[in-house]
Amino acid sequence: MHTNSSMGEEQKKLDVLSNDVFIKALVSSGRTCILVSEEDEEATFVEASKRGKYCVVFDPLDGSSNIDCGVSIGTIFGIYLIKEDHEPTIEDVLQPGKNMLAAGYCMYGSSCTLVLSTGSGVNGFTLDPSLGEFILTHPDIKIPKKGKIYSVNEGNAKNWDDPTTKYVENCKYPRDGSSPKSLRYIGSMVADVHRTLLYGGIFLYPADKKSPNGKLRVLYEVFPMSFLMEQAGGQAFTGNQRALDLVPKKLHERSPIFLGSYEDVEEIKALYAAEE
Ligand code: AHG
Ligand code: MN
Ligand code: MN
Repeated sequence: MHTNSSMGEEQKKLDVLSNDVFIKALVSSGRTCILVSEEDEEATFVEASKRGKYCVVFDPLDGSSNIDCGVSIGTIFGIYLIKEDHEPTIEDVLQPGKNMLAAGYCMYGSSCTLVLSTGSGVNGFTLDPSLGEFILTHPDIKIPKKGKIYSVNEGNAKNWDDPTTKYVENCKYPRDGSSPKSLRYIGSMVADVHRTLLYGGIFLYPADKKSPNGKLRVLYEVFPMSFLMEQAGGQAFTGNQRALDLVPKKLHERSPIFLGSYEDVEEIKALYAAEE
């Protein structure tokens, strides 16, 4: 089944089903008040009798172009805490990512992995299907300071701006005589970010001439992954600021994003700074 989402993007059957599952589970938990999903144009305001104090922003199924070929896909989420002294409004989620209380993702791959940060480091859990429990398998994840992998859709190269072009050129032909980086690109943000977190390196979804704000959505893709990267000792940059400082003006806003190992992100920051 192929329908179109509010973003005008192709919606797969699993996009719709996973969205329904998450909305129902989050509402019936009694802990949430506002839900923002990639798949719904408008936010869901939980009815007063089931309302709690958390706002959840999520991409119920990330990497949907990889569903039919069995490549890893996932779910990305971020959680804000609402101040209890007022009726929830959309302003409660149009908050910079640094205000998130927690963020994480699930990856459905060769195993089912949950990576979570509640603001004091990052932990990774693996589902043990025989127990039905997530087991802490990756305590206190720290991203290597510098990595040997870059990850970007190079098919968009002809439309990139100068800093991105120079950065990727330098990954392939390093000016300092160091070894070139390897390229890995899955096309599921969850899988590309998960590899970046564990092995180090950089993930880029830059702006280009056709998409001046890039492709990835601020609230439920850029913010949660940036939150995890910083908590693991890495960085996340939009091309002109720290990603978590961005203040979204609308629910489905997009932003360019460069995230990963601290030193690799420093290099792209320097290239953008040199442009100014
Ligand atoms: P979604 O499946 O939720 O729409 O997200 C797809 C995103 C993200 O997972 C990935 O990093 C990116 O799209 C890949 O885009 P390109 O195919 O343009 O490289
Ligand atoms: Mn996505
Ligand atoms: Mn999605």
